[in-house]
Amino acid sequence: MTWGNIAKGFFITGTDTGVGKTVVTAAIIKAIGLLGLRACGMKPIETGCIKEGDVLVPLDGMFLKTIARMEENVKHISPYCFESPLAPMAASEVEGVSIDFEKIKRAYTDLKKNYDAVVVEGIGGLLVPIRRDYFVLDLARDFGLPIIVVSRPALGTLNHTMLTVNYAIKEGLNVAGIIINYNCPPKDTLAEDTNPEIIKQISKAPLIGVFPYLTDMESVTIEKAVLKNLDIEILKKYL
Ligand SMILES: Nc1ncnc2c1ncn2[C@@H]1O[C@H](COP(=O)(O)OP(=O)(O)O)[C@@H](O)[C@H]1O
Ligand SMILES: [Mg+2]
Repeated sequence: MTWGNIAKGFFITGTDTGVGKTVVTAAIIKAIGLLGLRACGMKPIETGCIKEGDVLVPLDGMFLKTIARMEENVKHISPYCFESPLAPMAASEVEGVSIDFEKIKRAYTDLKKNYDAVVVEGIGGLLVPIRRDYFVLDLARDFGLPIIVVSRPALGTLNHTMLTVNYAIKEGLNVAGIIINYNCPPKDTLAEDTNPEIIKQISKAPLIGVFPYLTDMESVTIEKAVLKNLDIEILKKYL
């Protein structure tokens, strides 16, 4: 099942939480811009939101809104916000708020109308539960978008990347590619040096690039890093 007509864009997932999905979502929004199209961001469910007074502020959603220069209210970008820093299933149980997928679908459908492509940031990895019988993988399938897997550069990433890519393919998802992201400064280890080439050789999905550690998250810095480090031609066939 997918939500409506064929969509353009990507669903960004990771081998783990904290790998850099938000940063890479921003990078892909910029990459689509460099290809001459206008993309927006979406973070359908955000946990670990900051409480300001009575309002929950979704930091990922706000960052994507700024990067994509979106005018929509952040409620359309992050329709579900939870304060608990937990997987959605746990956060929704703790906070007593059930997730209505129609609400997510409506926000997505509205965004699709206004942009050439939607770049959706997932939540953690593919097997993070949203409900007892519904996982991030199912959400990616419902969005009907090809996925991009963000992974770490260090030792251990080959196993995590292969598990994620192969499971996605086995479940019938389209894997557009992998981005190895430096979410911390390089340590110049042998593993960091050799992992990109090994991933190219063993993975069924292409390596879109190795995204460098950035010293600031300004729009222009991200865009320059995209131009220099990502093979944006790989994205073209999905747009
Ligand atoms: N390429 C990068 N350069 C610098 N800092 C990064 C980079 N990628 C991620 N980070 C930092 O690492 C942390 C986790 O990244 P984030 O994109 O929020 O991960 P996720 O969305 O997967 O949880 C953030 O503080 C972010 O600023
Ligand atoms: Mg994030």
